[in-house]
Amino acid sequence: MPLRIIAQQLSHPTGFLGRVMGRLMNRNNAKMNAFAVDLLNLTPIDRVLDVGFGGGNTLPSLIAQAEFVAGIDRSQIMIRQAKARYADAIAAGRAEFRHGTVEALPFEAASFDKIITVNTIYFWRSLEAGFAEAHRVLRPGGCAVVGFLPKSHMDRMGMPTDIFTARALEEVVSALENTKFVDIRMERPQPTTSWNIVIARRRLTDS
Ligand SMILES: C[S@@+](CC[C@H](N)C(=O)[O-])C[C@H]1O[C@@H](n2cnc3c(N)ncnc32)[C@H](O)[C@@H]1O
Repeated sequence: MPLRIIAQQLSHPTGFLGRVMGRLMNRNNAKMNAFAVDLLNLTPIDRVLDVGFGGGNTLPSLIAQAEFVAGIDRSQIMIRQAKARYADAIAAGRAEFRHGTVEALPFEAASFDKIITVNTIYFWRSLEAGFAEAHRVLRPGGCAVVGFLPKSHMDRMGMPTDIFTARALEEVVSALENTKFVDIRMERPQPTTSWNIVIARRRLTDS
């Protein structure tokens, strides 16, 4: 399959190919997503939001561990799929999936204890716009976990730059600082692991 079509589908899955891509994402991103979910340190009273959940790799463990899970994605097909797969959790009031973008999260301020987003920041219009929204919908003291392949790795993959914006770790950290996040740190299982998981916290008070 041409790289450009793969990139388009990763950025915004649509149609039959989008469903296939959702399955591939789940397989290829499983370790990264599992590591990112662990870093959330979920408790049974947490309300958690997954931004750009795609094929939904994180959703079974988020639903198993948290009180309430919301997911947003700009892909209608990913939303339809999650609504069908997790119909029981939705009916029980423990999950909700909405169509939307990180730049305008369709939630009230301070709605969530924790936010996770994995492999999505390459597609955001602006890191600052996305993190500002994440900061707004997090409760004071809440944390955000952001997983991504850094620019050095992405550049080697040769993805079309009009679809993928490669992000360096320093750029992500600086955008988090600019949007008032604190206690920012990066984790990965091994020093040689290609991906980065950045954890950041919203201050308890805004002063
Ligand atoms: C490469 S997939 C990653 C899916 C999943 N998080 C994973 O790691 O397997 C990117 C997903 O983010 C969604 N997405 C991209 N940009 C977005 C944005 N600005 N707002 C909301 N969702 C977005 C896409 O529709 C797609 O489902």
